[in-house]
Amino acid sequence: MARDKVCVIGSGNWGSTIAMICGKNVRKYSDVFDEHVPVWVYEEMIDGKKLTDIINTTHQNVKYLPGYDLGTNVEAVPDLAKAVQGATALVFVMPHQFLDKCLATIEGHIAPGARAISLIKGVDVHGADIHIFADVIQDRLGIRCSALSGANIASEVAAGRFSETTIGYRKGHREDGEMWKKLFETPKFKIQLIEDVSGVSLCGALKNVVAVAAGLSDGLGYGNNTKSALMRIGLIETKNFCQEFFDDVLPETFLEESAGVADLITSCLGGRNRKTAEAFVKTGKSFDELEREMLGGQKLQGIHTAKDVHTFLAARNRIGAYPLFDKVFHICWENMDVNTLTDDL
Ligand code: NAD
Ligand code: 13P
Repeated sequence: MARDKVCVIGSGNWGSTIAMICGKNVRKYSDVFDEHVPVWVYEEMIDGKKLTDIINTTHQNVKYLPGYDLGTNVEAVPDLAKAVQGATALVFVMPHQFLDKCLATIEGHIAPGARAISLIKGVDVHGADIHIFADVIQDRLGIRCSALSGANIASEVAAGRFSETTIGYRKGHREDGEMWKKLFETPKFKIQLIEDVSGVSLCGALKNVVAVAAGLSDGLGYGNNTKSALMRIGLIETKNFCQEFFDDVLPETFLEESAGVADLITSCLGGRNRKTAEAFVKTGKSFDELEREMLGGQKLQGIHTAKDVHTFLAARNRIGAYPLFDKVFHICWENMDVNTLTDDL
């Protein structure tokens, strides 16, 4: 049987961590995967040198994952169309705001029999329409797309601290989940499979909004009781949202999967969304400024997801049913007084 050729599309903090894991696993399962792993890297200059040249000579992504050896079989490729040429296992792991342009570049250039997986956390909203990114990828490229999401702060996974994640595969296609599990699982990065692409994707997207709320609470100095309450309310709003607007989400995803409650907890304790939201309260600076100052090129998702969710709920006339999501939107985008965070919850 022909071996799958992997391509990792995206090379930020999580993208580089995942590329490093894939690089090792394709060697471990060389009967299943081709050993060369091209990674599409959005080109940028670092101290006068191209980031792709730095990665291909030092084997480190010095900007987004410094200090880790990606492996000699992981190749940074600046040309996306070239990176995906012949690939049959496409790993989408870039901030959601760049996906549309990427898909436009590779549409019509996908190898026959290819499959994809989305590691992107966010939702695609157009007025009253909402889609998970795994569906966007699947529909645009005409290939099956799974989803991976979980309690996965990239720096901890990269450091080999024990972590879990969830892969959601399409109905009747467990074999996709098994293939992706081979590509991503390590003794310290455990993977559960579930037939629930929507639930895995939506939990990953919506927990970022809850993490912003947790960060705002930290900025206000509210303590652990408040943060736990925000997590609980956030989980309920997540569950209600999934069940109201998507008919294929499995109930066990929320409490039994890393993609559910575990990701919500880790993101409310650590993570970039929590950290910048705390600084938003303490410094009075805008999220754009804080992203630039605190994240070294990495991107925030939570405030954008809060806006997308607000747009969608407003179009469906359902804002009142999701008071925490709504509060985060108003504080982050409409100058609502942050001291009202817990009012009316
Ligand atoms: P990141 O935020 O660390 O990095 C930003 C990336 O965007 C970089 O690779 C940069 O080169 C790229 N970029 C910047 N401008 C661009 C442009 N104009 N066009 C295309 N690309 C551009 O990225 P990440 O952490 O790898 O996040 C990718 C996805 O993974 C997100 O959906 C995120 O929510 C999710 N995720 C992240 C983590 C984490 O801990 N970092 C964990 C799990 C999931
Ligand atoms: P942040 O984007 O808030 O760092 O969250 C990372 C994540 O998704 C952890 O699972």
